[in-house]
Amino acid sequence: MGFMERGIMRTKFPAWQIFLWWHHFFLLWSTIDGQTRYSIPEELKRGSVVGNLAKDLGLVVSELHRRNLRITSEAGKQYFSLDLGKGELVVTDRIDREELCGQRPSCLLPLELVIDNPLQLHRVEIEIQDTNDNSPSFLTKDKVVKIAELVNPGARFPLESAQDPDVGQNSVRSYLISKNEHFKLTVKNQKDGRKVPELVLEKPLDREKQPVHHLILTAVDGGDPVRSGTSEITVIVLDNNDNAPQFERHLYEANVSENAAPGTEILRVKATDADEGLNGEIEYVFGELTDDQVLSVFYIEPSTGAITVKGILDHEANSLYRFDVTAKDKGSPEMDGHCGVEIKIADINDNIPEIIVTSLTTPVAEDSAIGTVIALISSKDPDSGDNGKVTLRLSSKSPFKLSPSVSNHYSLVTNGSLDREKNSQYSVTITAADSGKPSLSSEKTIRVELLDVNDNPPVFSQPSYVVYVKENNAPGKILHSVSASDLDLGENAKISYSILDSKVQDVSVSYVYINSDNGSIYSMHSFDYEKLKVFQIQVQAKDQGSPSLSSNATVHVFILDQNDNAPAVIYPSSAALGSLSHQRMPRSAKAGHLVTKVTAVDADSGHNAWISYRLAEATDASLFTVNLYTGEVRTKRAVSEQDDSSQRLLIEIKDDGEPVQSSTVTVSILLEDGLHEPILDLRHKLSEPSRKTGRITLYLILSLASVSVLSLVTFLILAVKCIRSSRSSGSCCMRRSDCDDYKNPNRNLQIQLNTDGPIKYVEVLGGDMLSQSQSFRSCMSPMSEYSDFTLIKPSSTTDFKEVISVLDASLPDSTWTFESQQVSI
Ligand SMILES: *[C@@H]1O[C@H](CO)[C@@H](O)[C@H](O)[C@H]1NC(C)=O
Ligand SMILES: *[C@@H]1O[C@H](CO)[C@@H](O)[C@H](O)[C@H]1NC(C)=O
Ligand SMILES: *[C@@H]1O[C@H](CO)[C@@H](O)[C@H](O)[C@H]1NC(C)=O
Ligand SMILES: *[C@@H]1O[C@H](CO)[C@@H](O)[C@H](O)[C@H]1NC(C)=O
Repeated sequence: MGFMERGIMRTKFPAWQIFLWWHHFFLLWSTIDGQTRYSIPEELKRGSVVGNLAKDLGLVVSELHRRNLRITSEAGKQYFSLDLGKGELVVTDRIDREELCGQRPSCLLPLELVIDNPLQLHRVEIEIQDTNDNSPSFLTKDKVVKIAELVNPGARFPLESAQDPDVGQNSVRSYLISKNEHFKLTVKNQKDGRKVPELVLEKPLDREKQPVHHLILTAVDGGDPVRSGTSEITVIVLDNNDNAPQFERHLYEANVSENAAPGTEILRVKATDADEGLNGEIEYVFGELTDDQVLSVFYIEPSTGAITVKGILDHEANSLYRFDVTAKDKGSPEMDGHCGVEIKIADINDNIPEIIVTSLTTPVAEDSAIGTVIALISSKDPDSGDNGKVTLRLSSKSPFKLSPSVSNHYSLVTNGSLDREKNSQYSVTITAADSGKPSLSSEKTIRVELLDVNDNPPVFSQPSYVVYVKENNAPGKILHSVSASDLDLGENAKISYSILDSKVQDVSVSYVYINSDNGSIYSMHSFDYEKLKVFQIQVQAKDQGSPSLSSNATVHVFILDQNDNAPAVIYPSSAALGSLSHQRMPRSAKAGHLVTKVTAVDADSGHNAWISYRLAEATDASLFTVNLYTGEVRTKRAVSEQDDSSQRLLIEIKDDGEPVQSSTVTVSILLEDGLHEPILDLRHKLSEPSRKTGRITLYLILSLASVSVLSLVTFLILAVKCIRSSRSSGSCCMRRSDCDDYKNPNRNLQIQLNTDGPIKYVEVLGGDMLSQSQSFRSCMSPMSEYSDFTLIKPSSTTDFKEVISVLDASLPDSTWTFESQQVSI
């Protein structure tokens, strides 16, 4: 029994199973009409005998042909055929149990056999027994399992079950995992009997240590021999954002010039993050508490960490920026790292030094001493180092200098004498330059005004003036105008003129007054050349400064002669006798006999005093002749007996002035007989004037002596009187109010007291009489009593009468008339 053998051979069934087999076998036999079952393993070779049908169905082998035993084809494919010769069922095709029955635990192939004569239907079932012909296999050879890094141990991750088409023992029995330290494997039995392998995490994962684990899962079946299949399992440890970005340095430092243009990169910070993906993707931002100032000036590129200039840097405003930079990853939760950044702003010489005038004194008195402080000046440069080191200097030449005091402070002081008259103001230009490279500089101009000081006296346009005035000028007319100028300003230059003194030969007189405002000098009276030829005026110009300055000038006034005097006959002196001049001459006189000599003088001078004589009328014009120049009267011829003994001559005396002035003298000549020595007489006569002159000199000396004695006596008396009379009275006045007429016809003087206007003065004019006696109030200062009798004093005048009487007493009339111009006034 092949069937039995094979069945036993093919399967190693336990004893109870063999029993079961036997039981089935008999059962089959018992239902032979119904069904016959064979059991064969799958994958039998073609031609293998499944069973002897003839025997099992009770058929005779020899009849099989005839009765045409055949398999009806129910199902499409036929795996079996009949060997009619032996009555055996033979395998004709490969039988794959897994193909036929899949995972069904029993796999029966029904077979219907038909035999004719008589027609019989036999059912045969062929059970296909599994053989371990398939290895377990995994659908995916490379399985990827992603496990989050932070998963706790114990977590299970189902894996794919292996497929094994075999059934029963031959199907997957167990799983194995390759050796590793993190995972173990458990197998979970599903309700449907499937075994599902599961990875169980035994030890925490760290992606940063080992991001990928390679495992091999092996599925083993229960066949004999054992078959297995593997699957590669890649465990990818999913990153957990468990690493914060780490900066390479704690502190980054950089320098940047303050003139760095926006966009200039200063430095790059760099952080790394061990995580991956978004967890490792770093974004750089300024730290949370970063100052707005920093934000306005710098920019950080989020992806690269490059810090660039964004705004305007200014070393002076901020020379150092400190801030934090945060590197953030994009994980969830995000993690961040921090670093410090210090950016120093390097100074550039970008600030122009500034000059500050703290205080300025102006105007400055021109007489300020050297070293006087005029201004306090300081400088400012916000740059640092050399860029901010400022030096000041004066750029223009000036009498000032800068003297340095404490740092960056200077005082502007005078370094020379100032003169407002040369330079009334200065523009002091101060240059400030710093020590940067290149150096920057600025300028400031200070205006220093000078204050006038009265340091210049008025200066007359000429040191002395010469003025010519015609005599007989009208009083009150401008004689001359002097002018002075003063270089100073204002009151210091306001000039007032005054007359210090007027002098005639060192004797003070008062002929003029001056307009104090403009220097016009006015005469106070008419001048008489014959009495006054020249005088000096000391004028003073005085400014109004304090103290005031003055200067003097002399005005020389020359009186010009006018022909205002007629020649005056001195000899023969008819006027003195009040009658004709009588001359006597002998009848015996020959031709050319000098009868007399007419002498005349002219008070004028020059041509005005150039006298010529002419015989104007004569009793007998043929007898006498008058020398034109000498005035000698001589006989033209010898006197004859017929000539009248009394002859009268009218001699005209003319000067050469313009207009001509003339006078006449009448000479009566008595012709006498027996008269001799005419020449001696004449000589005597001629010498008369010189003797007279000598006498005059004597008289003068006497009079001066007497005046001196008199004045001394007077002074003593006055002094004694004064002391006695009144101690309270400041001045000592002598009062005289006698009103007796004082008249001297011979005096050629006229004295007038002028009391008009502010100035009281006395005019002494040429004249023939003192018209009226006046009451004088005289306050005689002992010192100037006689020497300066025209001295003008308010409320006091000199007693002229006294003076004149003194003069009168000391001088004979004729002489006085003559000499008055020299001594008077
Ligand atoms: C910045 O400049 C300072 C002084 O000039 C220098 O000492 C320092 O080393 C510089 N720092 C950098 C980062 O260049
Ligand atoms: C100051 O004056 C002195 C003397 O005149 C002169 O030598 C000096 O140069 C002056 N200083 C300045 C800064 O002008
Ligand atoms: C001075 O002033 C007087 C009075 O005002 C005037 O008459 C005279 O002409 C002036 N003199 C000059 C020089 O201006
Ligand atoms: C001007 O003269 C007065 C009087 O004679 C004198 O006191 C004064 O010093 C003189 N002034 C000048 C600048 O000469």
